Amino acid sequence: MTGPSDLGFWGFVRGLVFLFDAESVHHFFAKKLRFLGSNAFGRWCLRRISGTNLAKARHPVNIGTLTFRNPIGLAAGFDKEGTMILALPHLGFGYVEVGTVTPRPQPGNAKPRLFRDADRFSLFNRMGFNSPGAEEVAKNVTQARASGCLPEDFRIGINLGKNKTTSAEDAPADYGLAVRPFDGLADYLVVNVSSPNTPGLRELQTVESITKIVGAIRAEMTNWKAKPPIYLKLAPEVRGETLEHILAAEKNLGIDGWVLTNTLGGYWKGGKGGWSGGALGTLGRDCLERVRGRSRLPILSVGGILERREVETRLARGANLVQVYTGWIYFGPRWIAHLLKAFTGEKT
Ligand SMILES: Cc1cc2nc3c(=O)[nH]c(=O)nc-3n(C[C@H](O)[C@H](O)[C@H](O)COP(=O)(O)O)c2cc1C
Repeated sequence: MTGPSDLGFWGFVRGLVFLFDAESVHHFFAKKLRFLGSNAFGRWCLRRISGTNLAKARHPVNIGTLTFRNPIGLAAGFDKEGTMILALPHLGFGYVEVGTVTPRPQPGNAKPRLFRDADRFSLFNRMGFNSPGAEEVAKNVTQARASGCLPEDFRIGINLGKNKTTSAEDAPADYGLAVRPFDGLADYLVVNVSSPNTPGLRELQTVESITKIVGAIRAEMTNWKAKPPIYLKLAPEVRGETLEHILAAEKNLGIDGWVLTNTLGGYWKGGKGGWSGGALGTLGRDCLERVRGRSRLPILSVGGILERREVETRLARGANLVQVYTGWIYFGPRWIAHLLKAFTGEKT
């Protein structure tokens, strides 16, 4: 269940940074990535650090009319504000899912709210959709796109959520508001009804609620020139009858694809939250297989990918693309280049 056996310099850096609070470390690296992504020398440094060769990191995948520069994306929750986008292609990623974005700014849950369980290569979080709000995130994405520094086949997805204080009844309106500023900015959209950290959110994983939410987003996009596909992100706990109902109604939901899956709900360090990484076991793969058995729509498979072989397995079992988060934290900046070797047949 490990990544590359030799972590090199990252093994040393990781030992140091893991001495500090996980969220503080995240913000520290977020600032660095934002700065390094903003200038040509910084981007060169990122390529050197990560072993990324921009030309070699191109393994295009088409989904409908969209071309993704390679099948490995950075999952939602790492770049919630869209401030690190310019750095990401230079770290090897083919696309990023920005967010979750809430319509209005909100601080998220009380800290500490992000923890490591290094024995299991896992993270446990109860962030609770800390977001500067949709307007602010849209400004950041606009800036990244306008910079002219993004490879033209690097894709940006926008993951949408609702504010904590919004009732289930008013949720569709919130998703509509959240998508409003993203006209011309999103390559794809994700309806996130699967975070365990917003009370009541997961109860929206019903045919009726999903249909209403997707309808509200589509209504908001009526006058958009380009209408991005809408994917639905589910929790790994959605199985059995609940999943059957959703799959049976697939054609009426109005969705264009799936993101499978979010974190696994649990209780640790004095509160509720969600497990990612090794703690997910095979849940992400199982969900992919179950949905692929019934659906022909594109699937972005995420959750518990800690090895290159697992990337190959997910794609072989019907995923169109994969996403990673926790594995990247544990295995470091050279890990994406290592995963990409799955597409060149290189052994190391
Ligand atoms: C700290 C943290 C924050 C996250 N925030 C979000 C989020 O805002 N929206 C979302 O859809 N998923 C979020 N996720 C879930 C990830 O996108 C992904 O589904 C999950 O971590 C499983 O992938 P992994 O095992 O590769 O980490 C978050 C995960 C982590 C670890």
